[in-house]
Amino acid sequence: MRTSIGVGLFILFGLFTAFIIGFRPDFNGSLPIDEEQEGLTDRIVIKFSHVVAGDTPKGLAAAYFAERVRELSGDSIEIQVFPNAILHTEKTEIAALQHGEIQMIAPSFSNLNVIDPVWYVMDMPFAFRDQKDVDSALQGYVGRTLSESLHRHGMEAVAFWANGFKQMISSKGPLRVPDDFQNQTFRIQPSQLLESQFQALGAGTVRIPFNEVYGNLARGTADGLENTISNIVSKGLYRVQKYMTISNHGYLGYAVIVNGQFWDGLSEEHQQQLQQAFEDTTEWINRKTAAMDERQLSIVEKSGRVAIHYLTEEERALWVERFKPLYAQYEKTIGRELMAEIGGPE
Ligand code: LMR
Repeated sequence: MRTSIGVGLFILFGLFTAFIIGFRPDFNGSLPIDEEQEGLTDRIVIKFSHVVAGDTPKGLAAAYFAERVRELSGDSIEIQVFPNAILHTEKTEIAALQHGEIQMIAPSFSNLNVIDPVWYVMDMPFAFRDQKDVDSALQGYVGRTLSESLHRHGMEAVAFWANGFKQMISSKGPLRVPDDFQNQTFRIQPSQLLESQFQALGAGTVRIPFNEVYGNLARGTADGLENTISNIVSKGLYRVQKYMTISNHGYLGYAVIVNGQFWDGLSEEHQQQLQQAFEDTTEWINRKTAAMDERQLSIVEKSGRVAIHYLTEEERALWVERFKPLYAQYEKTIGRELMAEIGGPE
């Protein structure tokens, strides 16, 4: 009896000593690995920073892209997605990309006029009738000119992803005819052209980063805004607004951009895998956005918080009349050829 107690104590003492000096079971599941083996650190990491939520076209595209890259590269490229501006806001992400702090961003077109004013072309009101119209511009001369403007600044546009058409929303009053906009202030993205667009309607503007919009609407810094339905819904913006007009007056899309030096440093094989993933994602997301818009509009409808108005053809014609002078006003800034490509407001 005494012998077995002694043996038991001896084993317990041994286990205790082993635990103290580091031989513990791995409760977190991260078993120690051989850090020095060849190839362990060869995995390429791409930090992808953006400003919207997961349940938006860009958020979904980011997740789809990350998964596609994992499959195509056999897990040798990892896409780390940082949504909701947790890493960078639209104000800092371009510089962070240029400095190589991150490798990939997808800002909306309106954020890129700081690089080159040719990007205003995508902000022109009523320039595009539908997604097909946008696609043919981006796949042709317009897209090439925009991509070249980034290339000159050390960045490569690898894809254009859709979000959709912008609608108007306000807490102050219905927005049907241009005069309804008077004495209202609208949140805009950082674009002088968007400022001019609202001025043409007699409204004031205030530039606010996307992730600060809700608070500013709630506090009344802005009376309303223009944005896509998915952005309005995913940030709950409709909860602090009362009147929405389905106007489809402008387009919001994204340039998917990588740091040029980083891209050039990749092997041809990795570039091809990424290129394939960009193509697949673009095809996937551009097909999905219209259905998403419809689904999310029904969320606003069901909430009963917002009166939704569909712009009539007659009302639309009045808006178009107000916007026409912008085409002459911005022709020099954007360039005559580019402007000719998109024509006038339709
Ligand atoms: C906005 O600021 O409204 C948009 O650029 C946000 C986004 O990236 O869709």
